[in-house]
Amino acid sequence: MSTRAERTFGDLQLNGEPRVAATNERERPLLVGPLPDRIRHRFPIFQKRVYINSCSQGALSDSVREAYNRYLEDWDERGAPWEYWVEKSEDARRAFARIVNAEPDEVAVTTSLSAGLSAVATGLRYARRSKVVLTDWEFPTVGQIWHAQESRGARVVHVPADGDGTIPFERFEQAIDDETAMVSITHVCYRNGAMVDVPKVVRLAHERGALVLLDAYQSAGSLPLDVRELGVDFLAAGVLKYLLGSAGLGFLYAKRDVVERLWPTATGWFADKDIFEMDHRDYSPAATAQRFQSGTPPIPAIYGGVAGMELMEEIGIAETREHVNALNSRLIDGLDDLRAQRATPRRPKRRGALICIRSADAPRLVDALGREGIVASSRDGNLRVSAHCYNSLDDVDEVLAALERHRKLLA
Ligand SMILES: Cc1ncc(COP(=O)(O)O)c(C=O)c1O
Repeated sequence: MSTRAERTFGDLQLNGEPRVAATNERERPLLVGPLPDRIRHRFPIFQKRVYINSCSQGALSDSVREAYNRYLEDWDERGAPWEYWVEKSEDARRAFARIVNAEPDEVAVTTSLSAGLSAVATGLRYARRSKVVLTDWEFPTVGQIWHAQESRGARVVHVPADGDGTIPFERFEQAIDDETAMVSITHVCYRNGAMVDVPKVVRLAHERGALVLLDAYQSAGSLPLDVRELGVDFLAAGVLKYLLGSAGLGFLYAKRDVVERLWPTATGWFADKDIFEMDHRDYSPAATAQRFQSGTPPIPAIYGGVAGMELMEEIGIAETREHVNALNSRLIDGLDDLRAQRATPRRPKRRGALICIRSADAPRLVDALGREGIVASSRDGNLRVSAHCYNSLDDVDEVLAALERHRKLLA
């Protein structure tokens, strides 16, 4: 295992000058700035490992650790401070609203992406419009939740992808029609890192009268998100990955003018128009996005999640996107030199933070890298390498050097 405690500090700046990421003419060189120098010390895992697996989970920061400690202290000192804790969940709602450029009353605080999506899926009636259009890039939970609605009359149609990490737009044109209730798409695919041209699909769906739900779990925190620019009706995500939180906290954005068109039957008392009414003889969901909530908010995860989101805001999501694009240019050039096959498109506009590399045995490759102190992951026969704000050029070079040593495990 490599120990690289102090070495990574300052490794991106030579005499204050930014280094150039791309090593040849294949891509326009992108400048790598000093972002990790500023923040890496806040993520202790880098004292022991090259952590480049934020598509699975973000690295633990000092502030998220402190937030969890604070939760235990508050519990210990105050007993059951539920008014304070409910207000904390409003902090979470406001923080996520800022991250996606929504209003707080357009955000539901949930326990997972699945919980918000289930509230939406059970809220549709599938009467006049019964079709739900998905892509073949969806995370399993998304497909499963929509298919579960088949017993309520939904018809689920999958838009197939090509092997080169693209979905030709004509496929959406063929699938979306005037019987389509919902187009449910992922922003960045968890299996190949490819990014969907969301505004283009939204325009088409809206022209044909369908709503659009975006799974932004693999993009939230790694690139700037703006629900107004994207045009989506719903956006679901969680804090586990690039928002630096932990499991147990998710969000659902719902555009204000669509909220009351849905009547969720996956619900609970925190979805009520007045949770203090405590009326067990009636179901009157809130007129705001709160109608997509369910039971008691996940308070411990909220402490950690708010700290993670605030840390990402402080670090800068736009700067992170530029930084990671520069690291990934270097990674892609290095992969080309190794003649490794990529599942992720080359153009930065067509990919998220995640780069997927085809492997002859991806779990073995993950294990081999793990033994050398590099934490990555695999899905679908691909090695997944996902850099974030804290990763450096040295990290990328260590990954490339390890892949060269384990060349036999590349496809
Ligand atoms: C793209 C995507 N969607 C959804 C999920 C899962 O969401 P949850 O477990 O919060 O329902 C993940 C988690 O890995 C994901 O990567």
